[in-house]
Amino acid sequence: MELFQAIKERRSIRKYKTTPVSEEQLNTILEAARWAPSWANTQCWSFVVVRDNETKERLGDTLSSVNPATAAIKSAPIAIVACAKLARSGHYKGTPVTDKGDWFMFDVALAMQNLTLAAHGLGLGTVNVGYLDAAKVAQILELPEGIAVVEMTPLGYPDEEPEAPPRKELSEFVFYEKYGQVKS
Ligand SMILES: Cc1cc2nc3c(=O)[nH]c(=O)nc-3n(C[C@H](O)[C@H](O)[C@H](O)COP(=O)(O)O)c2cc1C
Repeated sequence: MELFQAIKERRSIRKYKTTPVSEEQLNTILEAARWAPSWANTQCWSFVVVRDNETKERLGDTLSSVNPATAAIKSAPIAIVACAKLARSGHYKGTPVTDKGDWFMFDVALAMQNLTLAAHGLGLGTVNVGYLDAAKVAQILELPEGIAVVEMTPLGYPDEEPEAPPRKELSEFVFYEKYGQVKS
């Protein structure tokens, strides 16, 4: 699939078929995450791949009760939980060097974008899920100290073809030369 087509046509998928995802497909998707850029190439991310139904059920229960992705986490063949080692990204010799502090969210997001696009390229669905109880997820997956849960995604064959939610026009968020200055 052509890159721009993948960028434009990827959708958040919240309904999945039970068709299994092969190890080869999974590896291709994780390999895409591996090649994401990161702060000073620190690669602070880690991913926990969950196929076990009981664990997926428990992960689904960490989502807010209003989260529309709960059933997807529970029913897709795989859930992938994105984590990060803290105090690496955005740091130099152990100290944060910008006003942003720890850049782990940024680096993990880049890796997740690679992952979700690669999945889409293989005909698989994902949805970034951030509205969850990270402490509960950390407990379920037995995360060590210093590793934070960032988000999770279901992974599997889509059982829906959602319409694209509308996007702002470029003219609403692209400025030229100075902030707020639009194309004349
Ligand atoms: C950081 C982040 C967190 C998100 N968290 C959730 C979530 O908890 N539950 C959910 O159903 N969708 C979640 N989404 C998906 C967005 O709602 C979705 O990307 C947006 O509506 C645009 O739709 P599209 O992905 O189909 O283009 C999240 C997306 C991002 C980038």
